Amino acid sequence: MTDRLKDRVAIVTGGAQSIGAAIADRLAAAGATVVVGDVQETDAHSWHHLDVTSEDSITAIIDDVVSTHGRLDIVVNNAGIMFEKNIIDQDRASWDLMLAVNMTGPMLMSRHAAPHLAAHGVGAIVNISSIEGHCGNPQHVAYSSTKAGVQGMTRATAIDLGPMGIRCNAIAPGWIDTPLNATYVDSHPDRELVIDELAKLHPVGRVGDTSDVGDVAVWLASDESRFVTGQIITVDGGRTLRPTLPPVMGR
Ligand SMILES: NC(=O)c1ccc[n+]([C@@H]2O[C@H](COP(=O)([O-])OP(=O)(O)OC[C@H]3O[C@@H](n4cnc5c(N)ncnc54)[C@H](O)[C@@H]3O)[C@@H](O)[C@H]2O)c1
Repeated sequence: MTDRLKDRVAIVTGGAQSIGAAIADRLAAAGATVVVGDVQETDAHSWHHLDVTSEDSITAIIDDVVSTHGRLDIVVNNAGIMFEKNIIDQDRASWDLMLAVNMTGPMLMSRHAAPHLAAHGVGAIVNISSIEGHCGNPQHVAYSSTKAGVQGMTRATAIDLGPMGIRCNAIAPGWIDTPLNATYVDSHPDRELVIDELAKLHPVGRVGDTSDVGDVAVWLASDESRFVTGQIITVDGGRTLRPTLPPVMGR
């Protein structure tokens, strides 16, 4: 427990599990009052129903947090969904849903939170993008588009809100072992083997843990990063540094 975020009030979207839960835990351990906004209920921290596809739901959580806690200093736009579709099969309805959760939700959260984030001169927005915002995977046209979009939104938001004393940064996580990507691993009969092979793609020798993202979120939310804004911080154990070579080359 530290007091880096003492007296600060934070909303973490999608904080009921996985990366969002780790971010909420780490913010709380740094002294912040944390409200988790999620469609899924949780006992951890203070939970408030939030569906980021609904603007009414977004204004409701922000209004409730400010009336209960008197301020709002930190917004972590973490809620996200992922599905796989080749662009040939990419129907309009699922594309719209991906954009609604992964991009429009963060935009509306930031927009409605901004007046409150500006109130004490320490406001910080942390958007959760992905390394798929800088590169792509097969059948990820919608996901990759939203994560690249979040990066553009982060830079433009930083410029718009900087004069109000609000910083906006993004984290681009690499492979973090969570239910979001478990379908890849679980579709193989030998889960341990897949995790071992995945680990070899990472210069640090392992896949990511949710706490790896949580700790960076705390830094971006705190005054320790006070001159950092509009940045995309890649948290991927070095995976995207190294262009892959055919396994037959043995390196
Ligand atoms: N897991 C990874 O390897 C990885 C890598 C890069 C980026 N990310 C990003 O990190 C974020 C969290 O991913 P995760 O792996 O923890 O996912 P997850 O599926 O384990 O958790 C997502 C959370 O978001 C909530 N959620 C979904 N739709 C919502 C909505 N409409 N409104 C409010 N809450 C909603 C879910 O209930 C859940 O609690 C996502 O934005 C994801 O794209 C994950």
